[in-house]
Amino acid sequence: MTRDEAGPARATPGRVVFDVERIERRVRELAVEISAAYTEEDRLLVLGLLKGSFIFMADLVREITLPHQVDFLLASSYGAGKQSTGDVRLLYDPESPLAGRAVIVVEDIIDSGTTLRRLLPRLQAREPASLEVCTLLHKRLEPLDPEPRWVGFDAPNDFLVGYGLDHAEDFRHLPYIASL
Ligand code: IMP
Ligand code: MG
Repeated sequence: MTRDEAGPARATPGRVVFDVERIERRVRELAVEISAAYTEEDRLLVLGLLKGSFIFMADLVREITLPHQVDFLLASSYGAGKQSTGDVRLLYDPESPLAGRAVIVVEDIIDSGTTLRRLLPRLQAREPASLEVCTLLHKRLEPLDPEPRWVGFDAPNDFLVGYGLDHAEDFRHLPYIASL
């Protein structure tokens, strides 16, 4: 099937903003920092926010040298648009116990911060010993309290796709990050 037959006016990614090598290097650095920040007694749980974090998670956890567990949660706020609707629904809640352990929430990109502002209190209510955020990309549009402990890259205020990030579910599979 050619592009034309695939349907009308599907947006195509433009400029590459973070290439494969740069992402790979930075993910490895984050994993080294995370591995050094905890001990086995912390019973670290790395909690990926679906769907956008799935590739970042897969690369990150394989580079974390400390034994840890992995789970996901699924929140939805964007629909098919480029703007957050502000209505953050939790569609899948992690089954892993959080109480008393170190939890890192892994996010693909922080834009308005609405998703985390809504989610973190709900996770905090499950009484983890610590709760930190590791985001691959941060647009720094608004101050967050607390700011994420680990940030891969400061991102331009463009709509970015690839390496897990989508636009209306397209482009998640790209190995690099591009602006639309
Ligand atoms: P926030 O709630 O406005 O901070 O938006 C966070 C969520 O919106 C992220 O987890 C992404 O799924 C999505 N998002 C925000 N900005 C972008 C972007 O530039 N590209 C793709 N998804 C984005
Ligand atoms: Mg998304």
